Amino acid sequence: MHHKPAILFVCLGNICRSPLAEAAFRLEAEKAGLDAHTDSAGTAAYHVGSPPDPRSIREAAKHGIDISAYQARQIEQEDFTRFTHIFAMDRSNLSNIRAIAPEVVAARIALLMDVLDGSGGKEVEDPYYGGDHGFAVTWEVVAMAARQLAKELTS
Ligand code: 4NP
Repeated sequence: MHHKPAILFVCLGNICRSPLAEAAFRLEAEKAGLDAHTDSAGTAAYHVGSPPDPRSIREAAKHGIDISAYQARQIEQEDFTRFTHIFAMDRSNLSNIRAIAPEVVAARIALLMDVLDGSGGKEVEDPYYGGDHGFAVTWEVVAMAARQLAKELTS
């Protein structure tokens, strides 16, 4: 039986990077005709219940997707069984995810950039303390990974 892919994108606050990765993947999945469950979460609880950063909302809007109704949440134990893939934006996120993961997990847990040939081990840098440009860069890199991931899951 084929399992419907369920993809969780994880960053620190769930207000900057992972909402953009989720949005980019939704667009790519739609284009590819891929039926996937998609969500995002943060390793930290600081922003639980908050909408994405206004800069992320603006960046997503430029690409035709409205993420203003997203609400940040923290990753939780059930995510390790609900999702088939859990993608961390950076190595700190990855080690925080691994630290709380059950010993045996069926889900693939990896850096998002590992899906791109030649970008294995690369991080999606945190744009929080910079200007709007950083969010455009974030979009660029997460969209490339999202496209490749949608392609992989469709074939
Ligand atoms: P994110 O960015 O992990 O991409 O959502 C950040 C958001 C908030 C903070 C740091 C990074 N913070 O320190 O509050």
